[in-house]
Amino acid sequence: MECDHKCLIKVLRGEVLETPPIWLMRQAGRYLPEYKQTRLQAGGFLDLVYNPALATEVTLQPIRRYGFDAAILFSDILVVPQAMGQKLWFEEGEGPRLAPPLLNTDLAVLVPDRDLLSPIYQTLSTLRLELPPEVSLIGFAGSPWTIATYMVMGRGSKDHAEARTLAYRDPDRFQTLIDNIIAMTLHYLCAQIEAGAEVVMLFDSWAGVLPPKQFERWVTLPNQVLVAALGQSHPHIPVICFPRGAGENLQAFVETVVPSGIALDERVDLVVALKVIPEHMAIQGNLDQLALVAGGQALADGVQHIKAAMRGRPHIFNLGHGIVPQTPSDHVAQLVQLVKGTR
Ligand code: CP3
Repeated sequence: MECDHKCLIKVLRGEVLETPPIWLMRQAGRYLPEYKQTRLQAGGFLDLVYNPALATEVTLQPIRRYGFDAAILFSDILVVPQAMGQKLWFEEGEGPRLAPPLLNTDLAVLVPDRDLLSPIYQTLSTLRLELPPEVSLIGFAGSPWTIATYMVMGRGSKDHAEARTLAYRDPDRFQTLIDNIIAMTLHYLCAQIEAGAEVVMLFDSWAGVLPPKQFERWVTLPNQVLVAALGQSHPHIPVICFPRGAGENLQAFVETVVPSGIALDERVDLVVALKVIPEHMAIQGNLDQLALVAGGQALADGVQHIKAAMRGRPHIFNLGHGIVPQTPSDHVAQLVQLVKGTR
């Protein structure tokens, strides 16, 4: 097998492999019965995140079942606002809540607690001991803009109107928030790397709501600061950026940020994107997660299209966004076979 020794890292260094490594965003989660069982045992989602033994277990579950080439730490991007002093909880069936929302509350009232994150580093150290040697361990954090949208609103929202309005109305105050998120994120990612993460990924899930000038200031520049700082402190650790929905901002993003890998969402036309992404830069993506739900011919065609488009380029197979809970688990096994060419 070609992918025998850390193929993910080879690709992130610019190597072109005949068979791409594969892992999937949200590969540990509610589409797996064993995940639901462990989550029940933990009590709730956050109990799982802060329990190193159980967080290790759910991270390993999809590796055992499907033989993915990478494991992603089981955690959430919102532990960073929690460490910055906001209260975090998940409303069953709804989603995350952060209090107090920063729309009308000053950041200065929050009392940060960096030690809160220690169990997560313990999870990473355990994972490094337990993972098969050919499987890479990915740590992650949210990018500042996406984190700020949750911190300002105190919950998810459709168009992130509050954060966008605040960024226009009081850019200095918004910049202070972004700078504080950058500082905590850098501390968090460096500690993840020291605990055993071999690659880190930055999720900018809500990048796509911003017009070009705002995109440059709140998405491109903060990602650039983080990638540059990590390059200084940990030059051998590849960074993957995911500016979801970047659209026409993609070229300026990759040229300015220069990550080792760029993750593309399912709306990106690979033929167009390949023209603006430097040849040595690894590309991760971008099968539509709903083609995975559908399975059958849609899945087979989607995989073939991506493999053909990515021939000759460093490629990591992934979805355009996380696996959705209604995904049949046998479709994931079929996807791995299709990508590895064993079907
Ligand atoms: O990819 C992985 O398997 C690693 C774990 C991971 C989770 N969240 C676990 C999780 C990662 C990388 C994330 C990132 C994350 N979290 C993002 C960025 C990526 C993306 O999906 O856009 C965002 C925006 C969040 C915030 C978040 N966390 C929301 C909005 C929700 C609720 C929505 C939902 O799917 O229920 C979560 C909860 C969450 N994070 C779950 C998981 C497995 C579901 C929790 C559960 O009920 O078991």
